Amino acid sequence: MQEIETARLYLRQFTLDDLDELYRIYSDPEIMKYLRGVRSREATEIAIHTMLKNWEQNNFGMWALVHKIDRKMIGRCGLAFLDKTPEVELGYVLNKVYWNQGLVTEASFVSLNYGFDILHLDRIVAIARPENIASQRVMQKVGMKYEKNAFYYETDVLYYSISRETDQSKVFL
Ligand SMILES: CC(C)(COP(=O)(O)OP(=O)(O)OC[C@H]1O[C@@H](n2cnc3c(N)ncnc32)[C@H](O)[C@@H]1OP(=O)(O)O)[C@@H](O)C(=O)NCCC(=O)NCCS
Repeated sequence: MQEIETARLYLRQFTLDDLDELYRIYSDPEIMKYLRGVRSREATEIAIHTMLKNWEQNNFGMWALVHKIDRKMIGRCGLAFLDKTPEVELGYVLNKVYWNQGLVTEASFVSLNYGFDILHLDRIVAIARPENIASQRVMQKVGMKYEKNAFYYETDVLYYSISRETDQSKVFL
């Protein structure tokens, strides 16, 4: 997987050296509120191995987001299979110190562009809990449209999607 550069970020493969920083994120209840709760250090390490395995198996997965200025690993963004389906979803988590600066929107455009141009997907979806306004704003800003209420990962969610025809990600890269 090649490293990708945006205006403010490097997107690269995770390594086990990211464990401390990723655990800082995954153990923070405020950040993990709308995900499935905080994770232990052991679970975070397993998550890194799973992300690496997914890239190997599928040629897509989560990128580690590295802030260009301070060179810190600040979160993850990328593509994954949506809960027990063949659909591909956009997903993201960011260290709260960096919220609301447009950084995940920047990384999400890369993810959509990769999905449509490299993987030749026809469609990419995203889900969020109804209360997770920040996540839905990211979906809207990258051009995804609300499609339906749904139930995934054992919880009620709003389901957004974007198709190759309406994708605008290239314009922003
Ligand atoms: C969701 C998340 C990744 C967004 O990352 P980010 O880099 O802060 O996103 P952006 O800055 O690109 O966009 C966030 C948008 O939400 C808006 N926003 C944030 N909190 C909000 C709130 N409570 N009410 C209304 N708008 C809100 C911001 O103003 C911004 O919109 P704008 O650009 O129109 O002003 C980040 O909030 C996060 O890590 N949350 C915890 C993990 C999570 O929920 N992941 C998604 C699971 S579905």
